[in-house]
Amino acid sequence: MADKKRTAIYPGSFDPLTNGHIDIIVRALDIFDEVIVAVLCNPSKKALFTMEERVEMIKQSFNGTKPVLVDSFGGLLVDYAKMKNAVAIIRGMRATSDFESEFQMALMNRKLNKKVQSIFLMTGFRWIFTSSSIIKEAAQFGGDISEMVPEAVKLKLMEKYPPKKRNE
Ligand code: PNS
Repeated sequence: MADKKRTAIYPGSFDPLTNGHIDIIVRALDIFDEVIVAVLCNPSKKALFTMEERVEMIKQSFNGTKPVLVDSFGGLLVDYAKMKNAVAIIRGMRATSDFESEFQMALMNRKLNKKVQSIFLMTGFRWIFTSSSIIKEAAQFGGDISEMVPEAVKLKLMEKYPPKKRNE
């Protein structure tokens, strides 16, 4: 029997993608054959970047160099995972503060579909204090975020917050 490709879904808001996310994706590729980065389409959550911008920034950051696919999804994550024949959902865990909500989400996903496993990867030490929100805040006030995001994201943040538009 031919080997079955093992696909994992890495879901999130990715508003925007950070180097912490990239670290998780690259490490997930040590375990899975392919990772689908799935951006949640949630019209009720106000995002800085449009869905198209978020997807495009992720695509540019990988640029076909790795078996990483980028997509968007709406509705239940487990339904999307099933549609993509994924065997796992990957989530990064930073500090203990992430634990409770991640635990709750994993239990709900398991209740909804026992065939998809939730796998948690501990964030790389370097990225423990980074989050999309804090990076956006720093960028808004002119902080140097170049070490925390890929180049494509840095350029887009500079476009959103050009020096004269920053709330300094
Ligand atoms: O980057 P985020 O905002 O922490 O990602 C949250 C995400 C997208 C993983 C979560 O909100 C999600 O899976 N939403 C889809 C709706 C769903 O399946 N809900 C039930 C399980 S919580």
